[in-house]
Amino acid sequence: MQTLHVELGAHSYPVHVGAGILEDLGRLACEAGLQPARAALVTDTNVAKLYAERAQASLRKAGFDPIVVTIAAGEASKSMAMLATLYDRMTDAELDRSSAVFALGGGVVGDLAGYAAATYLRGIAIVQIPTTVVAQVDSALGGKTGINHRRGKNLIGAFHQPRLVAADVATLATLPEREFREGLAEVIKYGAIRDAGLIADLGDQVDNIIRNRDAVALEAIVMRSLQHKAVIVEADERETGLRKTLNFGHTVGHALEASAGYGTYLHGEAVAIGMVAAMRLSQAHAGFSGADAARLTALIARAGLPTAMPAGWRGEEFIRALRLDKKRAGAGVEFILLDRIGHTVTRTLTIDAILAHL
Ligand SMILES: NC(=O)c1ccc[n+]([C@@H]2O[C@H](COP(=O)([O-])OP(=O)(O)OC[C@H]3O[C@@H](n4cnc5c(N)ncnc54)[C@H](O)[C@@H]3O)[C@@H](O)[C@H]2O)c1
Ligand SMILES: [Zn+2]
Repeated sequence: MQTLHVELGAHSYPVHVGAGILEDLGRLACEAGLQPARAALVTDTNVAKLYAERAQASLRKAGFDPIVVTIAAGEASKSMAMLATLYDRMTDAELDRSSAVFALGGGVVGDLAGYAAATYLRGIAIVQIPTTVVAQVDSALGGKTGINHRRGKNLIGAFHQPRLVAADVATLATLPEREFREGLAEVIKYGAIRDAGLIADLGDQVDNIIRNRDAVALEAIVMRSLQHKAVIVEADERETGLRKTLNFGHTVGHALEASAGYGTYLHGEAVAIGMVAAMRLSQAHAGFSGADAARLTALIARAGLPTAMPAGWRGEEFIRALRLDKKRAGAGVEFILLDRIGHTVTRTLTIDAILAHL
């Protein structure tokens, strides 16, 4: 097991990454300063079957008394209705200010349970136990929680830092292939923007990681990713400057998600295409080398992720989605680009300049 500490003054917390650490959840929670008390273990229908019993047993052994709340798997559960169900279960179980919520699952469970914990009794403890690559390398750390509104994703939410993150990489063994590969897009992103060494290591390891889900290799890349996320969150808890670099690949990625039709791409797949597009813009506007672009594009492809813009992408919807970004940046669209692998620059580009190179 490897551990890092997110340093946010009174809101600091430990982050553990390791194979099999679900068994130690109760002990790790006590070590993080949580009092054994009534608690809620929130999970989804897929994860419950695989890991809820183990998590519950570990919590009980340490003196916690958890109710288990199982939500339907999928993005649709990040809803007002599901939040209300969660509050009902929490009040029925008489959870009080000393209680904690344990979120066992992917980003959907983490965001929903995190928001419930942020608001119940004006905020009780949340522990994140992420079981997808996306959740382990991204959503579990940083304190963003929330639900969707029919007008848009993540429109209702709060910052609520966890008291503990425990990422058991052994749980990734059961993740469906497509979701597993999707998460690697965010790992490649950390390397592209901040860590040339991580890109080199992925070059050696990506086939082993995809084929075998090797626990040692996974522990290394998850920890390395979380170290980057931790630095960014510590520097910039409320989303400005440094945190913006995490948007690499996301401007085009989001526009593709919005325009391609619901369910065409998983988020990480759209980001993979978006990163390749951002590399083309980087070559045109930031002096990024063709050799580096080719190397990074090849890595994305070896991770089993798409790299090409879809046929017919140049439509109304896509351009409208890009323009949504434009409003925020004033004169043009603010793009995170690379001048070399591991280093970003920001450029404001007009829609025409973008379309010329995609
Ligand atoms: N808060 C943040 O900072 C942040 C960051 C990134 C993404 N997100 C949010 O995260 C969500 C996406 O998260 P996700 O990709 O983890 O999706 P998810 O939670 O829907 O999980 C994906 C699928 O994998 C299943 N699953 C999870 N763990 C499994 C395991 N170990 N074995 C087998 N199946 C498993 C789930 O049941 C689900 O069907 C989105 O709602 C997004 O908005 C939040
Ligand atoms: Zn993303």
